Amino acid sequence: MTRIGYIQPDGTRVIVDAAPGDTVMSAALTGDVDGIVGECGGNMMCATCHVYVEESSADRLPAMTDDEDQMLHCTEAPRTAISRLSCQLPADDPMVVTVPGSPT
Ligand code: FES
Repeated sequence: MTRIGYIQPDGTRVIVDAAPGDTVMSAALTGDVDGIVGECGGNMMCATCHVYVEESSADRLPAMTDDEDQMLHCTEAPRTAISRLSCQLPADDPMVVTVPGSPT
């Protein structure tokens, strides 16, 4: 089991034990984490799994593909330098991600 932390826009933190083979998105769905929908089931067609990763974790993550880069232009909340699609992030190592809030 790998512990994944999800920080909500209001600062509350949810910890989920990810199972082997989980992504950060699938673990969030298992843990009922608000704000991560995963509408397309991890096929990079929705961007409803957008998260902000801690910069300290960024080096351990797989490189962003062109498809992920394109889909990140479709996020509801602003894209930043630390934006990723959580369906593309293996939950192999403990990490903390921030769930974007709704744009104001
Ligand atoms: Fe749809 Fe990640 S779940 S893009």
